Formats: sequence, C-alpha cells, structure tokens
Amino acid sequence: MYFVANWKMFGNFKSLNQLDKVMTFAKKFKKNKTKLIYCPPATLINAVSKKLKFTTIDVGAQNCHQGLNYGANTGQINSYMLKDAGAKYIILGHSENRQLGEDNNLINLKIRSSIKSGLKIIFCIGETLSQKRKKNTKKILSKQIIQGLKNVSNKRNIIIAYEPVWAIGSGLIPKETEIFDIVSFIKNKVKGSKVLYGGSVNTNNINLLKKIDNVDGFLIGGASQNSNNFIDIIKKTFI
Ligand code: 13P
Repeated sequence: MYFVANWKMFGNFKSLNQLDKVMTFAKKFKKNKTKLIYCPPATLINAVSKKLKFTTIDVGAQNCHQGLNYGANTGQINSYMLKDAGAKYIILGHSENRQLGEDNNLINLKIRSSIKSGLKIIFCIGETLSQKRKKNTKKILSKQIIQGLKNVSNKRNIIIAYEPVWAIGSGLIPKETEIFDIVSFIKNKVKGSKVLYGGSVNTNNINLLKKIDNVDGFLIGGASQNSNNFIDIIKKTFI
C-alpha cells in the first residue's frame, strides 16, 4: 500500500518536525508492504530528503518544467534538478495544475522528461463535477490516460492516482462501488499499474476506503500535513 503525502503549497522548515513521529512509526513497517512518500513543496525537497535519508520513507516533487536541459526559464525547475535535490517520485497532472492551464499534452511532456530523469511518476487523473454529472467520467479519464501516456512505452514506473476534482478538499468522496469500478477501469486501460485514490481522504472515511480491495494506496492532501492524522490513516488501513 502506498501512502503519499501531498503537502501542496504548505509548509516551511519548521514543518519538518512533523516528520519525526512518522519516521519512528515507519520503522515498524516492512518496506515491501507499505510505501510512504512525502511530497513537500520544492523549497523543502532537499531538506526532507536529507532528513529521511536513513529511513524507508521516500521523497517526491509536486510538479516540474517539461524541459530537460538547463535553460532561460525563470522560476521553473526541471525533473532532473528535482532528482538532484533528492526526489525519487513526482506528482504530475494534478488537477490544481490542470486548472492553471496544464493540458494532457503538456503533462505528457512532463511525464516523459521525468522518466528520463529517473523519477517515478504519480500521474493524477480525475473528472470535474460537471463531467461526472454528464456521465463523462470514463471518457475523460480515458483521454487523460491516452494523451498523458502517449509514447510512454515503459509504464513500470507510473503509478496512477484517481482524484475526482470535486472530491479534492471538499470532504466529499465517491461511493465505494464507484471507486472500485473506476479503479478497475483504469487498471484495464493501463495493465499492471498501481492505482491510488485521492480526494478528501481522512481519519474517518479511511475505514470505508480501505475496504475497496483494488485500491493500492492513497494520495493525501490536507490530512497529511499533520503527522498524527497521517499515522492514524495508515494505522486504520491495516486494522
Ligand atoms: P485533499 O486530501 O486535501 O482533499 O487533497 C487531495 C489531493 O489533491 C492530493 O493530491
């Protein structure tokens, strides 16, 4: 099971203390059964990766520029630089970045350059509420997958995160049967891939979410910023 903490645009050097409890907690887990990944903002990747160096917890980035060469791109960071800073994973295609204008084509370029840099990809897909209401969910997900993974022949290092846009930060989650159905659909499209669920995962609804037996883990936003909540979610998953 994967537990991925997406800190989004939250956190500063003081927040690194949040990792202490999780580091102690993680010692209890066998690495082959549970994978913990912290995705802090880019400013903290290097510090977090140093802090987690002798642990089984990995570090991920939250986005990158699509280019691989160094270049005159003010304010941008490429996947190679993130790898260099200590990231092993990268979240790409997050709906918060899609809403800022990233399309499937750009996300595809980012995925391909990140693979070249040696990062593992957490590729986010998901439908908006209006797409869901029009019963277009599978059509949208299909398009995101086909275009996002175009010319990606080796999908071994791609983990897909199904994050319905309307579930992110809203406290709402789909019905368990809906998640099961969508996750099966995704696994059918991308054979052999791990699929995570993300969107308002918290210490209460994890009791329902953990029962969905084709889900390989969770991508957690708000609840991951507090180590007690993050640990509680992991613990409850295995009870
Ligand atoms: P929340 O858990 O805060 O809803 O965020 C989910 C998310 O976007 C993780 O990538």
